[in-house]
Amino acid sequence: MIDTVVQSPAARPEGSRPGAVQRRPEAPPIIDIQDVVKTFGDFVAVDHVSLTIREGELFALLGGSGCGKTTLLRMLAGFERPTAGRILIGGQDMTTVAPYDRPVNMMFQSYALFPHMTVEANVAFGLRQDGLPRPRIRDRVREMLDLVQLTPFAKRKPHHLSGGQRQRVALARSLAKHPKVLLLDEPLAALDKKLREETQLELVCIQERVGTTFVVVTHDQEEAMTMADRVAIMDSGRIVQVDTPHALYEYPNTRFVAEFFGTVNLFQGVLVEDEPDHVLIDAEGLVNPVYVGHGISAREEATVWIALRPEKIAISKQAPKTPHNETPHNWDSGIIEDIVYLGGISTFHVRLDGGALARVTMQNLERMAAPDITWDDRVFLSWRHDNIVVVTS
Ligand SMILES: Nc1ncnc2c1ncn2[C@@H]1O[C@H](COP(=O)(O)OP(=O)(O)OP(=O)(O)O)[C@@H](O)[C@H]1O
Ligand SMILES: [Mg+2]
Repeated sequence: MIDTVVQSPAARPEGSRPGAVQRRPEAPPIIDIQDVVKTFGDFVAVDHVSLTIREGELFALLGGSGCGKTTLLRMLAGFERPTAGRILIGGQDMTTVAPYDRPVNMMFQSYALFPHMTVEANVAFGLRQDGLPRPRIRDRVREMLDLVQLTPFAKRKPHHLSGGQRQRVALARSLAKHPKVLLLDEPLAALDKKLREETQLELVCIQERVGTTFVVVTHDQEEAMTMADRVAIMDSGRIVQVDTPHALYEYPNTRFVAEFFGTVNLFQGVLVEDEPDHVLIDAEGLVNPVYVGHGISAREEATVWIALRPEKIAISKQAPKTPHNETPHNWDSGIIEDIVYLGGISTFHVRLDGGALARVTMQNLERMAAPDITWDDRVFLSWRHDNIVVVTS
């Protein structure tokens, strides 16, 4: 397991954090993964994963390539059997339940549409196999095509559709049989960036309308952030943190999560003053110590890391004032080494006097305003102590 979270304002019960968006916090669990392990020979692909997913949630499994996301999804679908542990769906142990008897459906990355069948025949396929009466099939197909806005394309074959439209056919087909849970493995991987972003929002709207629990696998942090109520971050077969996108971004519990979920400045430091209501950290590459206005659960002299998001650092050509008799803290000075202009925001790369490189982002609010900070300028960076996250691992 991972080390404990250190920063104390974050130590609130799950779901009670400011800004946390949870559409159905009170919903009962539908998936209960209990200490599941999956090995292939000597290789541990899924390593003691426990996870509860609630009814109606749009839940994302996020992690780098090979971290075990697909393997976990395949165990939920029943295509793989856990080496150890149990999976309950709707309160029922799935250990001996075959894939087609589970209240779940899986949408594969390739969509696996039948090329020789029309859109409507693709959507109807599972219903036909189940031997549903024709009028019911027709109604359900119509409803599904309406849901994914493909009614005008009902008679087309998949190869006469765009990538985004094919994706929606696959979605309609997977939802046609009313699964309680839909598993989606990289559902948008085949789409280009712009279409992908549009489709993310469409998927969220469709999920809200049908109310089916969605478990979406992705390696794209922005996609997980855009879509999911909650996200589980996986690393080497283990789940390292499960939370709302907001909480993962603002209160990461390890360096790994801080870096994986957004951009962050990480400074390694040593705890030099450890009081119940505040701590001081000497960070490598910074000149002034860093003050944090709450205690942390690490001993004096312990190595810790300070995580500071680039947008939470203020940048100015004027030095902040430090009151008399007070040691300066939470600001440092340096030279602009690089500026990345991205239209809406600019990122400044600042080489601090202590040697560290800090990234600071600033919104470009005024179209005509000449940039007043430029290459080789001396600048001062400052940040509020309550915007600092301290992690111990
Ligand atoms: N049938 C198998 N036999 C042996 N090893 C496997 C098998 N299936 C998966 N693995 C290994 O287990 C690990 C996890 O694989 P998995 O497909 O779950 O990763 P993933 O997180 O989905 O990655 P990606 O983002 O690349 O799809 C990988 O190292 C993979 O090589
Ligand atoms: Mg995968």
